[in-house]
This record gives sequence, structure tokens and C-alpha cells, in this order.
Amino acid sequence: MHVIIVGAGVVGCAVAYELASGGATVRVIDARGSGQGATRASAGMLAPYIEGHSTALLQLGVRSLAEYDRFVSRVAADAQRSIEYRRTGTLQVARTDEEARALERHGRALAESGATATLLDGREVRRYEPALATNVRAALLIPPHGYVRVGALMDALVDAAVSRGVQLSVARAQRIARVNGRVAVETAEGTLAADAVVLAAGSWSGGIPVDAAAAPVRPVRGQLLQLRLPRPPLSRVVWGSGGYVVPWEDGGVLVGSTVEEVGFDESVTAEGVRRLLERGERLVPALGAAVFEEARAGLRPATSDELPIIGASTTMRGVFYATGHYRNGVLLAPFTAVMVAELLLGDRERPELELVRPDRFGL
Ligand code: GLY
Repeated sequence: MHVIIVGAGVVGCAVAYELASGGATVRVIDARGSGQGATRASAGMLAPYIEGHSTALLQLGVRSLAEYDRFVSRVAADAQRSIEYRRTGTLQVARTDEEARALERHGRALAESGATATLLDGREVRRYEPALATNVRAALLIPPHGYVRVGALMDALVDAAVSRGVQLSVARAQRIARVNGRVAVETAEGTLAADAVVLAAGSWSGGIPVDAAAAPVRPVRGQLLQLRLPRPPLSRVVWGSGGYVVPWEDGGVLVGSTVEEVGFDESVTAEGVRRLLERGERLVPALGAAVFEEARAGLRPATSDELPIIGASTTMRGVFYATGHYRNGVLLAPFTAVMVAELLLGDRERPELELVRPDRFGL
């Protein structure tokens, strides 16, 4: 089976890798190359018990987190590269009475659902993380969470995919149509035909209609800072009401993130950087002395129900969607890839596909 994937972000590349591992001949096209959309400004947090804002999203996130050990070790082995990936947990912190009460409720709900989460008071929090601000009065420790360093993951994913025969090329897809019994991707550089096409173009998916059907995905900008301290200030990801801090092993620190409805504007702004610097320092005061390395912006692909669109098109045979992952593309990439690859290769139709069906948007 010959498959074209449109979009070389973390989702498109994970799908390509999984399909090629299952024996498909795969080509990935992207207007800008790999990891240039939302992926490049992703902090790589793996935190479904914080970011799973609906039952369906939580279910998908927990399921994908369960794939992560295997996914990272397979990709690292095929790419012969190491990937910084740590499951050291998260601390979700509260600084006001109201936040502390919300955290308690969240902790109780998690405990009832069987997840491991421990509520800590301010003194206990500082035993875990001495660098946290002294006004943190409570925190929820969620041990199964973690992060993956996204740049390293993307480099390895591309190498692993190529080692499995995937071809990657720069081409701007414009439309998907059926021609002579095959699926054709019309690009600025010519038409490419395949047995199946997977649309994984994130925020740009709506601009690549499948005949007349355009995926209702809108861009939501996120800005992210990369700072550096001589040593990691924290042992785990910290999540506060105004933002989050991800500590890398080498002293790199990510501070995120803004959530901005500004259309297709990928600019980093002075206001965004200022807000993130303030938020980071409010959580971890030592960040005031950090070296400023970089600020990045990416466009998260959002749908109206904040769930991705994954599965077979109901309007055109041979077309599949893997898009709209909004704030959870890195977390959901492994399970998305498994679901799409099994569907295309005819192995299995996972029940979770019911949660993310394209036809809920008429696709
Ligand atoms: N998942 C983190 C973010 O979207 O900012």
C-alpha cells in the first residue's frame, strides 16, 4: 500500500513511522519540512490528568501515555539516537485559597477514577521542590506524568521513519481529490497519487480541502520560552494557574505558554515574552537569573470540541484524518499513529476512534 501523509509535524511523522513499520510505502509532504508547525513550540509535557479537560480527552491521553515507553524506545532504537524522556511526575500548584480548593477537588476526582495523585501542603511541596515560590500553599503530585524533549523526539522520529523507508519532501498541498481510482494530492509542485492519504497538517488542514470538505481546525497561538540555568531548578514539571515550567536534565528550562486567537500569525511578541517571564519567575524565582536562550511560537490546531479528528473520511474513500490535536499533539501522537496505522493496514479498528470521528464535523 502506498500512502501519502500531508504534514510533517509530530503527528504526521509518528503516523508515517507506524505505517512504514507495518509494511506500507510512505511519503510525507510538508510545505516547510518536519516539525515546523505547533510541534516546534511544544513543551513536550505528558500530563493527561491535568490537560484532559473532558472524559474523552482524558481517556485518549491516558491511553497514549501508556504507549510512550514503547514508542520512545522503538524510535530511539531505529534512529540510533537518544531521546530525553522522563516520567518524573508533575506538581500542579495552588497559590490562593480558591486554587487550593480546586486542587483538592481535582485530587479527589482523580483518586475516584483510580489515578495516583497525592495532595501536598506547602511545607511538603518545598521538600519536593525547594526552588518553588514560598507562596505555593499546596500542590497535587501526579507521578505517572512526565515530559519528552520535543526537538530530540522529532529528530529521532524523522531518522527512524527514514530508516523504515519513509520519504520526506517539501511540497505545499492544496487539495485532495479522487482521480482514476486513486487519491490525488494536488500540490504547488504537481499532483501526487496514492492508495491512501492521511491529512495531518494541523492548523493548516482546513486549507487543504478534501473535494469541498474543509476540516474545521483553527490556529491558537502558543508562545514558549527557553531559558537556561547552570543546574535544573526543579526535578519535575510544575504547572500553575498562569503557566508551566519544564526542567530539562542539562539546565534548559521551558516556560509556557500563551493561548492566543490571532489567526495564522506565528510571531513571538514582546507582550508574550514579558508575560511568560513574569509567570515563570512567579513559580520559580531563580528563573530571574536564567540565561534567555530563545522564544518560539506555534499554532495549535483547535477544533470546537477540543478533541482531535482521527479516522476515515466519510466523504472520500481512501482519505484519513489525523489532525486537530490542539494542546496535546505530542502526548497523543503515539496512540494516534497506532490507531491510524491499524485502520489503514486493515488490522483493527480501535474503539477510541468513536471519540474522534471525522463525521461529527461532516467530514
Ligand atoms: N500542552 C501545553 C500547551 O498547549 O500549552
